Amino acid sequence: MQKEINGLQLLEVLNVHHWTSSTFSFSCLRPDNFRFRSGEFVMIGLNIDEKPLLRAYSIASPNWHKEFEFYSIKVEDGPLTSKLQKLKAGDNIMLRKKPVGTLVNDALLTGKRLFLFSTGTGIAPFTSIIRDPETYEKFSEVILFQTCRFNNELEFGKHTIDGILKDELLSEIVENKLRFFPTTTREPSQYVGRVTDWLKSKRFKEEFGSDLNPLEDRAMICGSMAMLNEFKEICLDKGLTEGSNSAPGHFVIEKAFVD
Ligand code: A2P
Repeated sequence: MQKEINGLQLLEVLNVHHWTSSTFSFSCLRPDNFRFRSGEFVMIGLNIDEKPLLRAYSIASPNWHKEFEFYSIKVEDGPLTSKLQKLKAGDNIMLRKKPVGTLVNDALLTGKRLFLFSTGTGIAPFTSIIRDPETYEKFSEVILFQTCRFNNELEFGKHTIDGILKDELLSEIVENKLRFFPTTTREPSQYVGRVTDWLKSKRFKEEFGSDLNPLEDRAMICGSMAMLNEFKEICLDKGLTEGSNSAPGHFVIEKAFVD
């Protein structure tokens, strides 16, 4: 029997993993009868000074999974993440059972290539979407782009991809369709540079065969406000239109995580 307090569900934490000094992920038992679309977010948090403090978090696990996974930054003096990063297996978090968001397949028109552009923990909704078989029914190529400052910040994404490749069913579904494209900005790696700079340079065409275009491409974008604004301009410039749940388009962004 799962507990509820003032309409908020209590979820038991199963696992916590610290990826870097500034990022961690944790998984919880998914509530009974909870439905969501891969890519959506929920409000989660803790009781702090006897009041619930909730923030928007993307569900990083796909909608068929029996566990919820969340990927978070650690902010030293952050009212919520300074406490959340101390979670241990067996602790509880609070959940408002209302999944929402625009980073969903429904908000995009059908297309050929799906680009998932993220910086830092903005990868979270996309680790849900790339594990949803429906994504590969709608798109024949799925490219997950993530820009981080340092190589070790790419580990969460790499680990998710490894998990997909080891999964008997998913590995077959994503075969020759899914590509992870990680880039770093503050230390050398195979691909260097901000995701926005990649889009503006001829390197993009060299790597992916053609520029981002409304005829075949759809894009989802998740990152800081500055990154979203820059991206939106690039997409509009290239002739892509912004989509929403009520009017699907060529690209979607999500502002719920931006302070
Ligand atoms: P950079 O190192 O050039 O600032 P952060 O850790 O600040 O959230 O940034 C995560 C990643 O996003 C970093 O690699 C950072 O690059 C990059 N970034 C920051 N601002 C933007 C932006 N406006 N557009 C694209 N990428 C950005």
